Amino acid sequence: MPPQDDKSEQQGPKDYTCLMSGDPQKTFYLETFGCQMNVHDSEKVIGTLVQQGYRQVETVEQAGLILYNTCSIRDKAEQKVFHRLADYKKLQAQGKRFGVLGCVAQQEGEKIFERAPHVSLVCGSASYRKLPEILAQLESVATNAASFRSAALSAAGLRANIGGVIPSEAAFQEERGISRGAEPAPAEIVRDSQLVRITGLDDRQTDECFETEFTARSNPHRGYITIIEGCDKFCAYCVVPFTRGKERSRTSDSVLAEARQMADLGYTEIQLLGQNVNSYKDPAGKRSFAELLAAVGEVPGIRRVRFTTSHPRDFGRDIVEAIDAVFTLCDHVHLPVQTGSTRLLDAMQRLYTREQYLERIAWIKAARRHISITTDVIVGFPGETEADLAETLSLLEEVGYDGVFSFKYSPRPNTPAVAFEDAIPDQEKARRLEVLMTKQKEIQIARCQKYIGTVCEVMVEGHNSARGQWVGRTSQNKTLNFKAPHGLVPALGSYVPVLVTGSFPNSLAGELVV
Ligand code: 5AD
Ligand code: SF4
Repeated sequence: MPPQDDKSEQQGPKDYTCLMSGDPQKTFYLETFGCQMNVHDSEKVIGTLVQQGYRQVETVEQAGLILYNTCSIRDKAEQKVFHRLADYKKLQAQGKRFGVLGCVAQQEGEKIFERAPHVSLVCGSASYRKLPEILAQLESVATNAASFRSAALSAAGLRANIGGVIPSEAAFQEERGISRGAEPAPAEIVRDSQLVRITGLDDRQTDECFETEFTARSNPHRGYITIIEGCDKFCAYCVVPFTRGKERSRTSDSVLAEARQMADLGYTEIQLLGQNVNSYKDPAGKRSFAELLAAVGEVPGIRRVRFTTSHPRDFGRDIVEAIDAVFTLCDHVHLPVQTGSTRLLDAMQRLYTREQYLERIAWIKAARRHISITTDVIVGFPGETEADLAETLSLLEEVGYDGVFSFKYSPRPNTPAVAFEDAIPDQEKARRLEVLMTKQKEIQIARCQKYIGTVCEVMVEGHNSARGQWVGRTSQNKTLNFKAPHGLVPALGSYVPVLVTGSFPNSLAGELVV
């Protein structure tokens, strides 16, 4: 899954004050790192917190509870959270509580308490459903700390440990005679200092999805809907199956109900999310992924539907047919390839060859509509040769991508690739990344130029007052910055036609058609 739209790996706080009620003392700050899946998880976490009477604030200084929703896909992303925690450690003296959510939480677990002892809460995404209980525990431990000697935690599956030694997962399970997957027994709370430690990590084998009554979506016009969580693919480099657990799909009926609800609230663009949306399986057996896609596209009021991320192995021709048949499905497919070398695809355990990948590309290119194609590429995977890199570069040419998210391979814990020989030195990875990006830039410049003189419909997403331009997005997911005649103010979220008059490697420029 590519990083969020703005390509940064973090997102600052949004203010939902208008939606808040309840205890003004219960304030939280939430910062999100990583992909769209994390951004959307944060929207659901915020919804849950708001329903528990919390109020979101803009700065760490204003907050009682400081939360980081973390990403561990690459080492750099993982280190960010520890830097943040170190930066604000001193605020603990003011009674602020710190929590680590998401993939780093799931991956590092209780080790986070050792590395950042001021953290009170570590909660992986598979335990978000239990957040109300976890928050209640955090509050009750905080407010009643003085009266605690030892007490049983009422919420099954939670453990709180106040300044005590936290037993390892295995020891904890063994101690209580429970095996993985069984409902864990209530835990003991032991207090000998003011430190509160709560983990919600026990649910990685869960069959359930994180569905909330209220999701605090940060954009009033376009929003995400998760259709499948987890991943069963186990690519050799990827930590996601370990941090997000096994695949579990929501029923297509519940996805459609959410889509209708969003349409009623005025949303016009929906992005269906999953680590691998193509392996979506309706638990009720009613709809395939392509059928669900089409059904969401037919919800009255919905004008654009996107989906990410696709896996080439599971990407079916029916998806292209659905895009051709249903006008609201966007002209864009993100199809991560990772490398153009079949030898390396095999080492990566990607389950397809270069030829099979190109077959999918041929289906997409044969569509009646012009579908834009983007991808993810990893350079410097162990054993990558110059010949492998050359194959990736030739694939870029052959496909003609409209965008490539490229990454230096980063060894991740638990993954098979950490043990692979022939690691590529970091400097060499950086060189290869540069070569790849230079090549792709040339391709994009040429591709973007082709839009000049055409009229594209954009959704108006913002205004750049410094440049006097409006920011729009095309169906093909291109940013199109445009000028409007003096006095004409296009409404945010509206769809307007724009004549493309200029192009850059990553965006287009144009003028509103009046
Ligand atoms: N190192 C570098 N990039 C990675 N990705 C996933 N795992 C790693 C890793 N260990 C990239 C892949 C994936 C995208 C979301 O992140 O390209 O498609
Ligand atoms: Fe990771 Fe591969 Fe699953 Fe994508 S398909 S989330 S790269 S394991």
